[in-house]
Amino acid sequence: MGSLVLVAGSVLAAEIPDVLKTSDGKKADSAAVWEAVRRPEILELFKAQVFGRNPVGRPATLRFEPIAADREMVGGKAIRKRVNIRYTGPGGEGCIALTAFIPKAPKPVPTFVLICNRSSEKHIDPDRLAPNPFFPAEELVARGYAALAFHNGDVDPDAHDGFTNGVHGVFQPDPKARTADSWGTIAAWAWGASRVMDWIESEPLIDRTRVAVVGHSRGGKTALWCGANDTRFALTISNDSGCGGAKLNRMDLPKSESIARINKAFPHWFCENFKQYGGREDTLPVDQHMLVALVAPRLVYVASATQDDWAGQPGEFQSCVLATPVWRLYGKKGLVGETFPAADTPLQGGCIGYHLRTGKHDLALYDWERYMDFADAHWKK
Ligand code: GCU
Repeated sequence: MGSLVLVAGSVLAAEIPDVLKTSDGKKADSAAVWEAVRRPEILELFKAQVFGRNPVGRPATLRFEPIAADREMVGGKAIRKRVNIRYTGPGGEGCIALTAFIPKAPKPVPTFVLICNRSSEKHIDPDRLAPNPFFPAEELVARGYAALAFHNGDVDPDAHDGFTNGVHGVFQPDPKARTADSWGTIAAWAWGASRVMDWIESEPLIDRTRVAVVGHSRGGKTALWCGANDTRFALTISNDSGCGGAKLNRMDLPKSESIARINKAFPHWFCENFKQYGGREDTLPVDQHMLVALVAPRLVYVASATQDDWAGQPGEFQSCVLATPVWRLYGKKGLVGETFPAADTPLQGGCIGYHLRTGKHDLALYDWERYMDFADAHWKK
């Protein structure tokens, strides 16, 4: 195993799997080979070894019920819709409460969907009693974007309940039927974001071809897995996602979270198979640049914060560098810039955006503003 200095102070602990090298040792040298061979291989490895497999896609029982009558909000500039996304399975019923602020506009609008991993009352705040920058609906609406949010806990509680509650229990009521590659909680949350996309497809005020999925931290890991699977999302945004998200596992970043630590603290997030890689990162057949690459050739944005060492900022950045060759197969630019940037100098020249914000682990207005800049540049040409 060679080691390689990539970023000051950060040495790769082991060789990183080549995103383009297929399991039989050939190089995917065209978009066609990427799509037919290498992309499916990588997706399968993440299902089998990291996030687990979903037993269900869009349920036949899916239905949308208004929670409240539509009303004007944001100073009359937007329509608020509140919808219960309901589904039933052999284990009972599930429901995701969606809040949407849709700017009044002559044409269908582009949209950001937040996977909210903080309390919905305070952070989604459907009545906008005390707006919080975690979900800045007013700012999004002012720039012409619909602002949608749901709480991850509606899909599946963020606790190790033995996979009896939430969507796991709805579709697989007998936890004994689970296997080492059954879906964990991050996969369940990502599934929930796809059900929001199902609703979007039914909503004429929204342009379904310009939809971003956004998540912070555990929500950022979720956004990446959602964007990797669900190609209906045109832009995938990982804010401070760290271990299991955008951070390379094979980078030696002692202050950041390891696979062993994350599985110990959050045994429900990933599939059972992922547990074998704690302390054995070099045996994992994937690394997280390959998760970023699964979004290609669509848009992806990764952001870090200067005080968020736990998320391993240089490892989040390096995934973007190492995923870039996949965009080139499509004749597109991936990340433009190969050296770790100074704080608050976003790299937005290609289909992969990156910035390092000054400050702590959080989803801040600065982050949202940069995501809107990136979306403006690609969607409002
Ligand atoms: C913990 C966890 C991280 C996670 C974060 C969060 O710090 O170790 O993996 O990203 O919580 O979701 O805020």
